[in-house]
Formats: sequence, structure tokens, C-alpha cells
Amino acid sequence: MPPVEADTEARIPPPWPSDQTALLAFHQSEWQSNILRRDDPAETSYGVTLRFLETADLNDLVELHQAVVANLPDRHIFRSDQPDFLADHIERRGATVGAFKEGRLIGYAVVSFPYQDPDNLARFTDLPADEALRVAHFDGAAVHPDFRGNHLHQTMNQIRGHYALLAGYHHLMGTVSPLNPYSLGNHLGAGFQVIGHAVCYGDMQRYIIHRKGHPTSLQRPRNPEDKELISCPVDAFFEVSEHLAHGYIGFAVQRTSSGKYLLQMALRDTVTSDTNRAFRT
Ligand SMILES: CC(C)(COP(=O)(O)OP(=O)(O)OC[C@H]1O[C@@H](n2cnc3c(N)ncnc32)[C@H](O)[C@@H]1OP(=O)(O)O)[C@@H](O)C(=O)NCCC(=O)NCCS
Repeated sequence: MPPVEADTEARIPPPWPSDQTALLAFHQSEWQSNILRRDDPAETSYGVTLRFLETADLNDLVELHQAVVANLPDRHIFRSDQPDFLADHIERRGATVGAFKEGRLIGYAVVSFPYQDPDNLARFTDLPADEALRVAHFDGAAVHPDFRGNHLHQTMNQIRGHYALLAGYHHLMGTVSPLNPYSLGNHLGAGFQVIGHAVCYGDMQRYIIHRKGHPTSLQRPRNPEDKELISCPVDAFFEVSEHLAHGYIGFAVQRTSSGKYLLQMALRDTVTSDTNRAFRT
């Protein structure tokens, strides 16, 4: 195994031409947004600053991660990570976006560059080996329960996605629990598709998601009358897996009037989407 320093240089910057000035400038940028606190009847608006984390933020990151894990209704929804893993993704194997309210970390989102590591999700695709090197993972992301519902996940996804693309990693991939319609809906709403399924991280059922390139919006089947369109409960892992095996992909999450979440599926290549290249936070 190569020494850590050599490994770092092989990934950030990546081993292909990229605009290092643009990448560094983006990594050092800050963005402003506004949020409401969930339990505040006065609906006071708070400013939020988004920026990439540094090693000095590690303790806050670990604390937030552990608070989110402790609050889960089901442990299968979200993988619990060790501090070493989080540290590794601040500057060695990837980068981590953070959202700060008055200096307090309330959200984060990791993008990682697995390169030739065995956990590269390209193994669930038919990507050739040279394209597999260009896979970035949308890895762990979370928002503190008190501040959910402000679309911080989507905002941080835009930032980590843009960073990966600037670094030349144009296949974005991730895993999402069938018990997590919120995360799945956010990803599919930005152009990801459910392309596979697996049991990962020990015993956790996961959908495998993929997007090539920039975010898009409004994925829809070319022919909405198509009899081949399928709606499955998001949490029906085996049913969805069966359809995936027969050439379907998942392209949208729909919330029904009774509060259930359905995964819209169609045959691969029959789904179209609008390109949305604007970078906004
Ligand atoms: C996934 C997650 C980051 C989304 O947080 P967010 O950006 O604040 O969520 P959104 O703003 O997109 O929420 C949209 C709606 O879903 C609701 N929602 C979001 N996450 C929810 C959750 N975990 N439980 C219940 N409702 C949730 C929001 O309240 C909001 O409802 P509204 O439209 O009625 O206001 C957050 O749920 C989370 O941290 N979950 C735990 C960790 C996790 O699952 N990470 C993703 C791993 S792939």
C-alpha cells in the first residue's frame, strides 16, 4: 500500500488535469443561507454559513454525527461512522461541507473519492475501469433534528457535487436506505437515479444511486401514459430490487395524500430530465 502522503496527492488533486486554482478557491469559499428553527412558533429566521470543514472542526463534526445517530428511529437508516472515518474525509480521501448557525455546526455532507479502493460503488455499475476512477461518493450527510425542513441537505449536496465535478469526478454515487424517503427524494429530485440495490455496511439494505455530471430537475418518463411505469413503496426493498433486476430505474419519490412515499420507476432510457446547471445555495 502506498504511503498516505502519496495517496493524498493521487486524489486531491486528482491524477488528471483540473483547474487547481478554481478547486482551491471553491474549497475556501463561504455561502450564506437562512433557516427557521422547527420548534419556534415565532418563525424567527437565522443566518447560516456554509463552508468546507477543516481538521479543527472534527470534534464538532463527531458530536453532531453522534447526536444524529442517537436520534434515529431505526439504526438501519444511517450508518454510524468512527471519528477516524470522519477525519479522513475532511482532507485526505475527500471533503466535507458544513452548515453553521451562529458558529454551531448543524449540518454536514461528505464527498469522497474512492479511486481504486474496494468500496468504490462503481462495482454496482457497468462502468469501465477508467470511468470507475471518476466516481465520487456522496457519503454521510445529516442535519441536526432541530433544523430539518430547511433544505440544507439539498444545499450541501449542490456544494459537494460542484466540488466533485470541479475535481474531475463526474460520476456521483451514493447509497440510501429504503427507510429514508427524505434523503432519497432529495437525491432523485436533483437528477440521481436508483440503479441498483445491495446489503452494505454489514446488514443494511441500500439503494444504489447514480448521477452523471451536473444536477438536473424534474425527471419524468418520456411517455407518462406508458404502461411500463411502476410505483412501489419506497420501503419495499425486495419489490424494488426485483424491478431493478428487470431493467427499471427509480427516478422520483412521490408523497401520497395519506403520507406514504412511493418510488416512481420506469425502464432505463425512457426517463428524461431538465438540465439545471445553475449553482445556487
Ligand atoms: C436526510 C436529512 C439530511 C434531510 O434533512 P433536511 O435537509 O433538513 O430535510 P429537507 O429540508 O429536505 O426536508 C423536507 C421535508 O422532510 C422532512 N424531514 C426531513 N428529514 C426528516 C426526518 N429524518 N424525519 C422526518 N421528517 C423529515 C422535513 O421536516 C421537511 O418537511 P416539510 O416539507 O413538511 O417541511 C435529514 O433527514 C437527516 O439528517 N437524517 C438523518 C441522517 C440521514 O438519514 N442522512 C442521509 C443518509 S443517505
